[in-house]
Amino acid sequence: MGTGELSPDLFPREMMKQIMNRVSDRIDSLGYEEPKGLLFLREQLSTYLKTIGIEASPSSILIVSGALQALQLISIGLLHRGSTIFLEKPSYLYSLHVFQSAGMRLFGLPLDGEGIQTKMIAQQKKRQNASLIYTIPSFHNPTGILMSKERRRELMDVCEQEQLPIIEDDVYRELWIDSPPPLPLKAIDNNGLVLYLGSISKTLSPGLRIGWMVGPKPVIERLADIKMQTDYGSSSLSQWVAAEWLSSGLYHQHLEKVRTELKVRRDVMINSLQKHFFDIATWSVPKGGFYLWLRLLPPISSRKLFEKALEHGILLNPGNVYDHHATQYLRLSYSYASLDELENGIFRLSEVIRQLTL
Ligand SMILES: Cc1ncc(COP(=O)(O)O)c(C=O)c1O
Repeated sequence: MGTGELSPDLFPREMMKQIMNRVSDRIDSLGYEEPKGLLFLREQLSTYLKTIGIEASPSSILIVSGALQALQLISIGLLHRGSTIFLEKPSYLYSLHVFQSAGMRLFGLPLDGEGIQTKMIAQQKKRQNASLIYTIPSFHNPTGILMSKERRRELMDVCEQEQLPIIEDDVYRELWIDSPPPLPLKAIDNNGLVLYLGSISKTLSPGLRIGWMVGPKPVIERLADIKMQTDYGSSSLSQWVAAEWLSSGLYHQHLEKVRTELKVRRDVMINSLQKHFFDIATWSVPKGGFYLWLRLLPPISSRKLFEKALEHGILLNPGNVYDHHATQYLRLSYSYASLDELENGIFRLSEVIRQLTL
């Protein structure tokens, strides 16, 4: 329940075979690609992005080796040492050291049920010397929170007013369970303030290492140049494979299956929690993505819990990985384990917690 990836049971083996066959017919060579990445893939992405309200020509898209590389490129190419990044607290970004190792500071803003709270942004921007805000509006990692349409508008308004650029990390967007999320911030960005990140890691396969960044052309060109100097581009084979998934329509078929399966898994986790955790924890039902943010009621040392759970074969992600102070929280993932493992794991975890609180 610690892993942030899809279960191997959801790997689309037959479709991947078809895709690989088609790719092997299509490619004439596997040379270095253009700095922004394979044009065919960028064209497919440009078409896909239109379906979620983003107008982006292939020349304003950069192919990256996963969204993580986009963050690295931004930290090297756009930001100065000593600057501050605003982000949700808790956040996936706290579990990495991308910005801190480039000499930047993270400053967390509180979240509520509708997403990141915007009221402190204007006042804190000057005080903290903030140079951008990083947000995961759709099925946030680790809380699963979906930013409402109204909050997205509010966030855009305040960032426009403050001229504060935004990194919108939207890698979980397509993994909605109940209904599609509101349009991305990038779709309502009239001033080129948003750098938009997507990836096939969470929906299809993290090992292909394919993600994308959309932004103003000069920014994309600068980061493409740095990427070229870093790795000469992402694997051309992976780029062809990703492009074929998109152009064949199989990607969308696959997404539908993943959504159905995630719903089953989420519901199994919720039912098991209702059975075994009703008196020892609280939670909200995630509307998509992989994660449930569990607040434990008894005060237990997260280190002890982690170790005890591991002895029982359960790998946990304690909340303090995502926020120092979130020691009463666990990030539970329902995307990876089998249904049996989920049911059993939740039951055994409740037993471990009960033993620790005796
Ligand atoms: C919010 C978020 N962004 C980015 C990533 C990394 O994605 P990629 O595999 O595309 O680098 C993850 C993976 O856990 C994530 O949760």
